[in-house]
Amino acid sequence: MNLVQPEDFSIEQINEILSLSQDIMSNPSKYSKVCEGKLLATLFFEPSTRTRLSFESAMKRLGGNVIGFSEPNSSSVSKGESLKDTIKTVSCYADIIAMRHPLEGSASEACKYTSVPFINAGDGKNQHPTQTLTDLLTIKSLKGDLNNHTIGICGDLENGRTVHSLVKAMSRYSGMKFIFISPKELKMPSYIKEELTSKNHTYIETESLDEVIDKLDILYMTRVQRERFNDLDEYERLKDFYILDLKKLKKAKNDMIIMHPLPRVNEIDEEVDDDERAVYFKQARYGMFVRMALIIKLLELEK
Ligand code: NCD
Repeated sequence: MNLVQPEDFSIEQINEILSLSQDIMSNPSKYSKVCEGKLLATLFFEPSTRTRLSFESAMKRLGGNVIGFSEPNSSSVSKGESLKDTIKTVSCYADIIAMRHPLEGSASEACKYTSVPFINAGDGKNQHPTQTLTDLLTIKSLKGDLNNHTIGICGDLENGRTVHSLVKAMSRYSGMKFIFISPKELKMPSYIKEELTSKNHTYIETESLDEVIDKLDILYMTRVQRERFNDLDEYERLKDFYILDLKKLKKAKNDMIIMHPLPRVNEIDEEVDDDERAVYFKQARYGMFVRMALIIKLLELEK
């Protein structure tokens, strides 16, 4: 089984992964040898700190081992090797593969050639399903439930793959209200909005965080994705459109949570980090546990 986008798993499978993550969090020693003798390959054609290191720490905490590269220049891709050949070769060595790639669709392409379970660790501006599992675990653990929340998603909604995957995943739960907060140049893509409408969800689009912040149970901040801009002047003009600080947070609910997939650039002032509502570093830790659960599931090692 592979994971390219959140819908590759049923709601039941997602719930199993989240429950397994919670069990791993409470009993880490029970799982410390589950992956003994297993090898994870992390193929990162695009830079990453959290995703690659959380996959690697997840595998090592399960007693397994890791091989891979963190930039394409250190692999045969720099000699012109095709994605097909890289994946076929790595399938000969590893038991499971996690790949990040700058091209949209590269993850589904890789699935055609892999003979071991394959995980999309981000494909261009398309999807980032393991960040979404992280986000779902964070929301479930801190808000108790995945239904009936008003979620504000703020920043670069056009280019941010984490929010594309998150909205697709959250659209499968009930009673959700989506508020998309972005400059008009960086709006949520139509295909995501059409999917919401087809599932009878409503959404609001606005440029103003200030006007909606008091309604939110969850505020999901994102950075403006510099690497996806052809025109860097446009990036410069938009990059500081939203800067969340304590003054702006005054109107927010006391139990709202502030999430961010990280890396943060300027969109959340560091003074917010000590506010109880800021959960983005906790979220990063949940990401490691959810990847442990995902590896166990895909390698069918639960029993
Ligand atoms: C995100 C990504 O790579 O899409 N980072 C991550 O995996 N936590 C978000 C981002 O880069 O802005």
